[in-house]
Amino acid sequence: MSFNIAIDGPAGAGKSTIARKAAEMLGFIYVDTGAMYRAIAYYLLKEGIDPDNTEAIAAACTGADIEIRYEDGEQIVLLNGENVNSYIRTEEVSIMASRSSAVPEVRQHLLELQRSLARTHDTVMDGRDIGTTVLPDASLKIYLTASDEVRADRRYAELKEKGEQVSYEDVLKDIRERDERDMNRSVSPLRRADDAHLIDSSYMTPEEVLLEIMSLISSTGTE
Ligand code: DC
Repeated sequence: MSFNIAIDGPAGAGKSTIARKAAEMLGFIYVDTGAMYRAIAYYLLKEGIDPDNTEAIAAACTGADIEIRYEDGEQIVLLNGENVNSYIRTEEVSIMASRSSAVPEVRQHLLELQRSLARTHDTVMDGRDIGTTVLPDASLKIYLTASDEVRADRRYAELKEKGEQVSYEDVLKDIRERDERDMNRSVSPLRRADDAHLIDSSYMTPEEVLLEIMSLISSTGTE
């Protein structure tokens, strides 16, 4: 049976950095489910779908065939056969992904892909509902969070580095709005699973978070 580590938490908590490094250390695959939602959002934007039109999103999402490949350990998201990794990290896609991921048909569309990756590989999978819905029997569950301001600082630095013209205030506002939507949607809202270990990374380095996760794994056992 495969060993699956579920890491959930709000935007900017450091999930992808931590999950990627943990996967590398353990020789597991890193499954970034946010990237799958982003690829669908990118598709919907290209199709000109209105983010407020739930029915149109539900109908259109089936046209987005999502596949995952790994190149040098890096997860590549294929949207209808095309590598879309370099298009899905903009604020526009983030906002659409937060809206479209609340639509049940979009979630259903990705669920089997996520579960089948976990069945066939040892994984570190990050997202919002991994420990609660996608892999309720995950071997280890982590809920990784940090204060709004720390998360906005991190996101702002990331966007600036990519040359995006954004203000810190807008990034903080977007983060709070996304939290609000992710935590209050009716299907698979972001919440800590009862058996998830809480890690607040506000004042921790990535190395400290990784150490804590590795020690949780040792106490869980990988057999
Ligand atoms: O982790 P991220 O910022 O790349 O995720 C993009 C959006 O996708 C986020 O607003 C919430 C959504 N998402 C989700 O609903 N469920 C997941 N398992 C992963 C992401």
